[in-house]
Amino acid sequence: EAAALQGLRQGRLRIAAVTTTEYFLPDLLGPFARAYPGIRIELAVENRDAVVARLQRGDDELAAMMRPPTHLPLARWPFLENPLVLIAPLGHPLAARRRLRLQDLVGEPLLARETGSGTRAVLEEALAERGIAWPPRMALGSNEAVKHAVRAGLGLALLSRHTLAADPASEGLVVLPVAGFPLRRQWVLVWRQDRALSLPARTLLDDLRQRLGVRVRPT
Ligand code: PGA
Repeated sequence: EAAALQGLRQGRLRIAAVTTTEYFLPDLLGPFARAYPGIRIELAVENRDAVVARLQRGDDELAAMMRPPTHLPLARWPFLENPLVLIAPLGHPLAARRRLRLQDLVGEPLLARETGSGTRAVLEEALAERGIAWPPRMALGSNEAVKHAVRAGLGLALLSRHTLAADPASEGLVVLPVAGFPLRRQWVLVWRQDRALSLPARTLLDDLRQRLGVRVRPT
């Protein structure tokens, strides 16, 4: 018991997170961080492939991602819905339409995240499943860069709804009402089953499980 308490008085907790989770994960860590000020939290934010590489090396104890790799022995806990939406700049003619089909969009330039991004992989999968050829006109290395490029009128994009403000119009963006969208995905917290979790990692998981018993949805 005393040893357990000591284990939470000081220490380090390394977490990896894909870029789309940086919009809410720090908030989720808040109560744990306040309760255990002696635990130094290191949150690495990278794209999906980089997070997979970190998991493979064992850099972190926990990782938050949408598409966990199948080649590693991972425990997984789906903890949040991740709807992915198609966006356009505010005032775009397509945004005036009440209903759209994905096919209606392909005349517009497509802006995508970089190769290695889970968001990009979902986009490519969705297009392939529907037999639609819509090659990206540009690749951009962050969600914010994609949002700025869309707002600047360079094209349309698929992003996690969580990367957008509660009111996307406040950022000069609009979510397009495309049939079959949002794509419904989930984020999962994963950890390696072949390694023992530290006390701080187990404590954080317990804390999140209690508070997220009801899944959080974006507004
Ligand atoms: P990413 O994040 O596009 O930054 O890789 C999305 C994900 O993989 O969940």
